Amino acid sequence: MLTKNVVIAHRGASGYAPEHTFSSFDMSHFDMRADYIELDVQMTLDGEIIIMHDETVERTAGLPGVIKEMTLAEIKKIDVGSWYNKKFPELQREFYTGQTIPTLDEIIGRYGAVNYYIETKAPEVYPGMEGRLVDILDTHGLLTPERLHNKQTVIQSFSMESLIKVHNLVPLMPLLLLAKKEVLRHMTDEDLKQINDFVYAVGPSIKDLDQPLIERLHRLGFLVFPYTLNKPEDMKRLIDAGIDGAFTNYADRLRTAFNAENSEIFDEQDSM
Ligand code: G3P
Ligand code: CA
Repeated sequence: MLTKNVVIAHRGASGYAPEHTFSSFDMSHFDMRADYIELDVQMTLDGEIIIMHDETVERTAGLPGVIKEMTLAEIKKIDVGSWYNKKFPELQREFYTGQTIPTLDEIIGRYGAVNYYIETKAPEVYPGMEGRLVDILDTHGLLTPERLHNKQTVIQSFSMESLIKVHNLVPLMPLLLLAKKEVLRHMTDEDLKQINDFVYAVGPSIKDLDQPLIERLHRLGFLVFPYTLNKPEDMKRLIDAGIDGAFTNYADRLRTAFNAENSEIFDEQDSM
């Protein structure tokens, strides 16, 4: 079970490749060997779970289109790679053009029973999404007692309601509560203790995360995996402050930062 120095590849290697595409996930998983593949899920008109951050295809396809009003067949015609080459010419690669939106089923088919951090995006927009998601995980054999215990697949959400739905469907499912800036500071210890029975980790925004908040969350029994940790100076600051891992667009940088921190600790021990 991964509980220390955990590198969670946010939308794959999205600092280098178009987010949420096979090119991005291949890079973070096969090349960078990130500990977890992070992905967001939305649901199509015909009930397919697809991998996408936004509720529309506008930003990554340059076209109008609301996912809940589109079928999977319509979604599959869309190119979500070309925008990246235009926006980041210095990182562009020819094969990014024509990348399509994967389904969750295709993702697990390609990478197998590896480690996934799956976020239910806009769950209020998609009634039944949690049930469909759990069915897919079950079909792929990801919900065995051993895999649940090892936290191979974690469900994350900003929506406590969505996490509770997942918990009711799969009581042993590992869950992470995402929290925007200020949210955790407004929750009392009692509030947090109540959810600690079924939420094992929290994902605070890096914007207001500091050592006292990390220590408080640890004291209450949570692991702490902030989002989205991309800049080396933020990595150093929050690793020093005691995070257990993080979501990052740059899995390679975060691994280097954790390794550097470990060697500093070894150096200090050697000189004692
Ligand atoms: O899931 C962690 C982080 O991805 C949450 O923010 O908007 O990038 O999905 P977002
Ligand atoms: Ca996410």
